[in-house]
Amino acid sequence: MRQVLLTALSLCASVFAQSSTVDTYVTTEAPLAKAGLLANIGASGSKSEGAKAGVVIASPSNVNPNYLYTWTRDSSVVFKYIIDEFTSGADTTLLGQIQNFITAESTLQQVSNPSGTVSSGGLGEPKFNIDETAFTGAWGRPQRDGPALRATAMIGYANWLVKNTSVSNVVSTLWPMIELDLNYVASNWNQSTFDLWEEINSSSFFTTAVQHRALREGAILATTLGQTSVVSNYQTQAANLLCFLQSYWNPTGGYITANTGGGRSGRDANTHLASIHTFDPAAGCDAATFQPCSDRALSSLKVYVDAFRSIYTVNSGVASNAAVATGRYPEDSYMGGSAWFLAVAGVAEQLYDSLIVWKAQGTLNVTSTSLAFFQQFESSVAVGSYASSTATYTTLTAAVKTFADGFLAINAKYTPANGSLSEQFSRNDGTELSAADLTWSYAATLTSFNARAGIASPGWGAAGLVVPSVCQTSGGGGGGSGSAGTVAVTFNVDATTFLGEDIYITGNTDSLQNWSTDSAMILSPANYPIWSITVNVPASSDIQYKYIRKVNGAFESWESDPNNEFQSPASGTFTRNDTWR
Ligand SMILES: *[C@@H]1O[C@H](CO)[C@@H](O)[C@H](O)[C@H]1NC(C)=O
Ligand SMILES: *[C@@H]1O[C@H](CO)[C@@H](O)[C@H](O)[C@H]1NC(C)=O
Ligand SMILES: *[C@@H]1O[C@H](CO)[C@@H](O)[C@H](O)[C@H]1NC(C)=O
Ligand SMILES: *[C@@H]1O[C@H](CO)[C@@H](O)[C@H](O)[C@H]1NC(C)=O
Ligand SMILES: *[C@@H]1O[C@H](CO)[C@@H](O)[C@H](O)[C@H]1NC(C)=O
Ligand SMILES: *[C@@H]1O[C@H](CO)[C@@H](O)[C@H](O)[C@H]1NC(C)=O
Ligand SMILES: *[C@@H]1O[C@H](CO)[C@@H](O)[C@H](O)[C@H]1NC(C)=O
Repeated sequence: MRQVLLTALSLCASVFAQSSTVDTYVTTEAPLAKAGLLANIGASGSKSEGAKAGVVIASPSNVNPNYLYTWTRDSSVVFKYIIDEFTSGADTTLLGQIQNFITAESTLQQVSNPSGTVSSGGLGEPKFNIDETAFTGAWGRPQRDGPALRATAMIGYANWLVKNTSVSNVVSTLWPMIELDLNYVASNWNQSTFDLWEEINSSSFFTTAVQHRALREGAILATTLGQTSVVSNYQTQAANLLCFLQSYWNPTGGYITANTGGGRSGRDANTHLASIHTFDPAAGCDAATFQPCSDRALSSLKVYVDAFRSIYTVNSGVASNAAVATGRYPEDSYMGGSAWFLAVAGVAEQLYDSLIVWKAQGTLNVTSTSLAFFQQFESSVAVGSYASSTATYTTLTAAVKTFADGFLAINAKYTPANGSLSEQFSRNDGTELSAADLTWSYAATLTSFNARAGIASPGWGAAGLVVPSVCQTSGGGGGGSGSAGTVAVTFNVDATTFLGEDIYITGNTDSLQNWSTDSAMILSPANYPIWSITVNVPASSDIQYKYIRKVNGAFESWESDPNNEFQSPASGTFTRNDTWR
């Protein structure tokens, strides 16, 4: 008895010590991480010399590895944090940064690059030079999570701006940019993509999850803004994405498989990062959207964490139910394949997000899927629903909090005194490795601190979604080759324009935007005066369309009557060569 009591007391003491270690880490690291993040944003950031205003550099490291570029993914994740800080009122000084970011991204969207032009796939280009020119070297492209993450960041700001200014202001300023990204997602989600680590060309859970989120909140924003012509297409494609999302779940292994290709086990930080970047507190512990506290996401988290226990020297001697250092995926060998600060912070964040929901709902459910996760902390726990008044709830939530703090304590242990966070820390001895001052390491640290403080960013409409019983492919939209029942039609039109004037197309099908001038699609002037776009239209159908002119995005004029018209073929591709009338 005495022995048991002593053990319990010393456990208590060490838990307390860890919690105060993390308290101290949060207090000292938060301002350093924020300063480190802002130092990497041009033009005034102290470590981002040469970057245009609003351009986020991935890291100041320009050799071994050279990360002195701007990635759409990293920039959007960083600005999602900044926009949340601003719109929540936590830091009202960030408005100028947000405005610079919007200007920078509006330029980058239009830069023709190896993935295409703005209307022919260029939005999927993963990275650009920091002077806002195209990066033309060989790379894993396209990466289709970028437009979705950028739309999500901008939608957060647009929602604030609707309240701060007016619907019409958002329609004319931010919406055209958001719509480009969302139309890209709606049209291209069902095409293969390089994953967030830029290595595997297949379908990727993180990409699918963030695309689903972007279209859901995009449909809500479009409704608010009166942009009704796009809403049903976004909703349809979001339902298709939600259906597809389910296919990544591996019920036998109890984890989410990160990629459909690549030949790895599929245990990957990809999946818990997806859960935290699609967290919606209103959705509770919904498993269809893999919410942080869902049984699937918790089971998957355990499988992922356990994959690193025996392979990293820094994890040796750690109890089998305590926090350990984790990296991207166990098979990783990039730059030594070590631990990543953002992966470790992400584990903590998923657990803190879970605690937010359990507290709000006053219950914690243990299912057969999440049983192994919870048994780590209480081997006798059984499947059931535990109200906050029960001892089991108290025990499990306290253990999860301790487990979560354990991950931040690991980052704390390997963070140097000056607070700098590189990309990785050594799996052998914990010293910092790879790119120094990784902007995403700072953002991930700051969002995990917010989650620890019980702060969740706004939701996106994840509550109560129903998974369609049959999964459909995209079946429409621009870019790429035709999918089921559609043919890819390239529209070329010879049109002379003046500076600021652009040619758009709209027509009688969903993918031609149902005759909407607002959501008409911009053509590429890459072969000016020939303007071009490729759009998937229904096969064997009567297709009608017209070109329109807009000046700086504002409607100017229709082509003269009648409508252009043709019969689409049953399969293959098709070209229309027109001259503006
Ligand atoms: C809009 O936001 C700015 C910056 O925070 C603030 O100064 C201004 O009062 C706000 N205006 C309205 C109408 O909310
Ligand atoms: C396209 O969607 C279908 C239906 O969900 C799915 O089976 C297929 O794997 C998807 N392909 C890609 C590349 O997303
Ligand atoms: C990626 O995979 C798709 C589908 O298999 C293929 O069409 C495309 O060429 C691949 N891209 C690269 C860069 O390998
Ligand atoms: C286009 O119109 C049809 C028929 O009214 C409707 O079913 C469809 O949802 C619309 N699509 C879009 C993208 O607005
Ligand atoms: C627990 O399960 C019950 C019954 O299925 C459900 O109503 C409740 O929302 C769940 N709570 C959480 C936090 O998952
Ligand atoms: C912070 O400390 C680390 C480790 O000592 C060092 O490598 C790095 O250069 C320091 N950063 C700055 C800005 O002094
Ligand atoms: C359309 O024009 C292109 C050159 O601009 C030409 O190669 C192609 O054959 C034309 N197609 C049709 C169907 O007229």
